[in-house]
Amino acid sequence: MRVVPPSHTHAQVSGMGIALPEQVVKNSDLEKRLDTSDEWIVTRTGIRERRIADKDVATSDLCIAAAEEALRDAEISASDLDLVVICTVTPDNPVPATACMVQNRLGAKKAGAFDLSAGCTGFMYGLAVGSQFIETGFYQRVLVIGADMLSRITNWEDRSTAVLFGDGAGAFVLTPSSKEGYGLLKFRLKADGSGAPFLMVEAGGTRIPASEKTVKNSQHYLKMEGRPVFKFAVNAILDGVLEVLKQENLTIEDIDCFIFHQANVRILENAAKQLKIPMEKVFTNVERYGNTSSASVPLALYEARQEKKFKRGSYVLMVGYGAGLTWGSALMRW
Ligand SMILES: CC(C)(COP(=O)(O)OP(=O)(O)OC[C@H]1O[C@@H](n2cnc3c(N)ncnc32)[C@H](O)[C@@H]1OP(=O)(O)O)[C@@H](O)C(=O)NCCC(=O)NCCS
Repeated sequence: MRVVPPSHTHAQVSGMGIALPEQVVKNSDLEKRLDTSDEWIVTRTGIRERRIADKDVATSDLCIAAAEEALRDAEISASDLDLVVICTVTPDNPVPATACMVQNRLGAKKAGAFDLSAGCTGFMYGLAVGSQFIETGFYQRVLVIGADMLSRITNWEDRSTAVLFGDGAGAFVLTPSSKEGYGLLKFRLKADGSGAPFLMVEAGGTRIPASEKTVKNSQHYLKMEGRPVFKFAVNAILDGVLEVLKQENLTIEDIDCFIFHQANVRILENAAKQLKIPMEKVFTNVERYGNTSSASVPLALYEARQEKKFKRGSYVLMVGYGAGLTWGSALMRW
């Protein structure tokens, strides 16, 4: 039955879960196989180690572990879910959607399921999409998972990208907010496709289907132009923060915790400096996980909650940015 909520109903995060592969790859491990150094990686990125999944693990395996924890946290059963959204650029297979594998293995029998692709901004898009279903009253329980295994599309001989990425998953259960003015209050989703070539996997789609030649030419790996992406990322955070604050008539001081996509600590420091946000309010865990793409924002929010970086009533502002180019932000009152 369709339940039409009062117009003020927002979605709230009722449960969170994460999954990280056990294998820790430290910068010193990369020094052994690449022309790089711990010092270069730490100074330029802040990353000290990352988690890399074993060969027999696929994205849906990480999704399942994260989802099971999120469902326990929300105290709901998978059979109650209305929708499963998986934000990823590294699905188990090109067809069908990884969300369908997860829906089946969880036993989410009545849920619809689809994947969503927005690069490292995936989770912000997924959160916005999932929330719309709840705000309209169409659905009551939505599972949104950000999961990526960029290690599978990383060229481990390319030092300019291999040091940056890691694998992981983060899952949120969304339900209608129990209190007016609380929950996920505002979203801003943006894209600028003119920057698509800066962050791209060239082959394997309809433009350049997979062939012996594409494999030989390493066209199935993620290629990136670091410098323009760095500049874009800083501007994306500025835009994501300032626009949402303006729309909601809030100031930097009103926000207790900033959760930005964890790509590079210098990006976060640069943006924080320009916005005059003290770094104590900017959560970071990129040093331990590297850039986990769509998993990064939910992983960071999960750990920020654990570390009590926000409390009931706090405003939390999340911003993601990545391939597309895309960026997006969400304002939440916890
Ligand atoms: C990738 C990034 C860390 C590179 O840092 P940078 O300061 O811009 O460095 P540059 O690319 O200008 O390279 C500087 C030098 O370091 C070298 N270098 C690149 N990777 C290296 C590595 N892992 N180890 C050692 N040297 C490296 C380059 O070859 C270059 O050498 P050169 O001066 O002899 O040509 C940075 O550009 C970045 O973080 N960009 C954004 C990436 C990102 O976040 N992407 C995902 C967004 S979702």
